[in-house]
Amino acid sequence: MPLVEARDLVKVFPLGESIFGGGAQGEVRAVDGVSLQIEAGETLGIVGESGSGKSTLGRLILRLIEPTSGSVRFAGQDVLRASGAELRRLRRDMQIIFQDPFGSLDPRMRVGEIVAEPLLVHNSTGSRERRQRVVELLRAVGLEESAAERHPHEFSGGQRQRIGIARALALRPKFIVTDEPVSALDVSVGAQIVNLLARLQREFGLTYLFISHSMPVVRYLATRIAVMYRGKIVETGPTEQLVASPAHPYTRSLLQATPEMEAAVSNQQSAFNT
Ligand SMILES: Nc1ncnc2c1ncn2[C@@H]1O[C@H](COP(=O)(O)OP(=O)(O)O)[C@@H](O)[C@H]1O
Ligand SMILES: [Mg+2]
Repeated sequence: MPLVEARDLVKVFPLGESIFGGGAQGEVRAVDGVSLQIEAGETLGIVGESGSGKSTLGRLILRLIEPTSGSVRFAGQDVLRASGAELRRLRRDMQIIFQDPFGSLDPRMRVGEIVAEPLLVHNSTGSRERRQRVVELLRAVGLEESAAERHPHEFSGGQRQRIGIARALALRPKFIVTDEPVSALDVSVGAQIVNLLARLQREFGLTYLFISHSMPVVRYLATRIAVMYRGKIVETGPTEQLVASPAHPYTRSLLQATPEMEAAVSNQQSAFNT
């Protein structure tokens, strides 16, 4: 049984109301009949240009937004029908990491509070255990213990992304959607984050849905790739195979993107081993 399974997911957004009167001006089929499966321990890469529906798909799978139609299963459980204790359990198991770590970190909170917040919300530990867990999490993502006392603005973009990752790991999730996690970062810093995600996956047995507009980034981490275009998956396959013999012209155009990220990732792979 796959860990994650989506069937025929559709999300239609109404376009805005006209200021000149009249009703909704049509609709956008942001996700238009997407089915996918993700096996435990693998990374499914979703790649496609801006506006192709990647973020909407990720949010549908986590039930951060409700689909127009279709179904999502997590470890066999119907995500869209879950409620109460079942839904809270699912909320712990499935997490998200965003592109813009600054926008998603409360500037008034200390890093220790930010990382501990999911533990508090889910009321899963006492305060001493929580402090201990925060230290473990900061170390796991390559930050000093003293980071807990500081505020997000004191950190660089890459360090802030590490804070976001520590927070996402707090509840020991099984599945993480990473939505453009390195797109706001310099190439070399992004490469460190990609390597960190790879190491955390091995260490904690994580399963990823890795979203990016960049084929060089996706192909580094993904075991399989699904190419998204205008709300649909136009091609999917194991990474090696899809890269070696892309069937769809859109996939071929994505593969012509610059490989600088890949070079940066392998360059600092040996240097980066925390
Ligand atoms: N909340 C929303 N309301 C209306 N339209 C939306 C909303 N979210 C996304 N869209 C539209 O859905 C399409 C897909 O967006 P998105 O999933 O963000 O794509 P991507 O992440 O691939 O850039 C776009 O046309 C976008 O404008
Ligand atoms: Mg997006």
